[in-house]
Amino acid sequence: MTTNADEFARAQGVMPGGVSSPVRAYRSVGGTPRFLVSGSGPYVTDVEGHRYVDLVGSWGPALLGHAHPAVVAAVQAAAAQGLGFGASTPGETDLAELVRDRVRRSGGGLVERLRLVSTGTEATMTAIRLARGATGRDLLVKFAGHYHGHSDGLLADAGSGIATLALPGSAGVPAPIAGQTLVVPYNDLATVRAVFEAHEGRIAAVIIEAAAANMGVVAPSQGFDAALASLTHEHGALLILDEVLTGFRVGPAGWWGIDPVPFTPDLVTFGKVVGGGLPLAAVGGPARLMDQLAPLGPVYQAGTLSGNPIAVAAGLATLRAADDEVYRRIDTVATALADATSAALTAAGVVHAVSRAGSLFSIAFRATAPRDYDEARDQESFRYAPFFHAMLDAGVSLPPSVFEAWFVSAAHDDEAVARVLDALPAAALAAAAATPAQR
Ligand SMILES: Cc1ncc(COP(=O)(O)O)c(C=O)c1O
Repeated sequence: MTTNADEFARAQGVMPGGVSSPVRAYRSVGGTPRFLVSGSGPYVTDVEGHRYVDLVGSWGPALLGHAHPAVVAAVQAAAAQGLGFGASTPGETDLAELVRDRVRRSGGGLVERLRLVSTGTEATMTAIRLARGATGRDLLVKFAGHYHGHSDGLLADAGSGIATLALPGSAGVPAPIAGQTLVVPYNDLATVRAVFEAHEGRIAAVIIEAAAANMGVVAPSQGFDAALASLTHEHGALLILDEVLTGFRVGPAGWWGIDPVPFTPDLVTFGKVVGGGLPLAAVGGPARLMDQLAPLGPVYQAGTLSGNPIAVAAGLATLRAADDEVYRRIDTVATALADATSAALTAAGVVHAVSRAGSLFSIAFRATAPRDYDEARDQESFRYAPFFHAMLDAGVSLPPSVFEAWFVSAAHDDEAVARVLDALPAAALAAAAATPAQR
């Protein structure tokens, strides 16, 4: 029988770091990544036959749990009809209508038109190009610690001053491209205002995670998104709301539907849940903006695999199954797990805070929940690796980084929750015993 270590060694021989996406390599927690062979409901199984309660959830898409029967049946039926045609299919329109209607019902704004793409990265890239095309401006504002995919302009790091243009955040990103992005602290409207004033008439758009969940979970402060929308519009720029992670996960449409202060973004990006676990994402907005995309307008965007019928079938089946009961269950499970984790850490004497945005949550090893990227980084993150490994040894697969949200699904039944709860006390003790040098 093969082992995780064998598979990791084999993969490293032929793939950089042995992975197709960096976080899977366990670099921030150390140890051997689990090579998975199957998933069912709340569980995943590795090549050694170990079964884990999964709190990674494919990084978000697995809203209904793994291999949900309705989604699998829809995918099988679609595959039997052909894997893709590079031509339009009725399912794409069904999905676009479903998204439009769910957003409308949630009290959200206008998703009159939707362009289907294959990844969240593509969705945000397209939204930004559209915003630039529509405004005739070049600069983009993004928030430190927010992740919108790996396109060049979005891998920009903050420079030394808030009104300065950003530096490349990755080798291979040309400075002039990073220099089109201004990086500002999250939840800090005064700085956004200052940046608009310093670059009057030059900012095309502000892009923001609807609720930040890629530096651990950091919710917007009360009314922040709404105030940001007003400020952005005052300066003739567009607000791009990135719901790739939150969309159809934190509620029937996304964060947009549950933010306590309503607001209207201009463009919205979706990914993850909207594709039901297959490569599908989307950018949406009002017709007056979206119709500037080719073939109607001058902003070019295209994709061989865009709107792939199997991915569309998975997305449709997932959204059709994602009823109020699904969201109730996810909220219940998230609360149970967040509360129990906090109780176990408290009992072990570990300073921590639970950070929540709807059903998304993460644990920060600091006294208060972080409000921005500086605070998110200012924590005893060395406590996470031993905590993570103790949970893994006890059969619970957490995200392999303290800066990721924990994803629950509607399939996390009482038995799966109980397994997590059983594992927590020993993991909390491991976190308590951690020292900075330890990994
Ligand atoms: C908020 C957000 N936007 C965009 C992306 C990029 O999506 P993808 O990984 O599908 O390219 C992610 C991925 O995690 C995300 O969380």
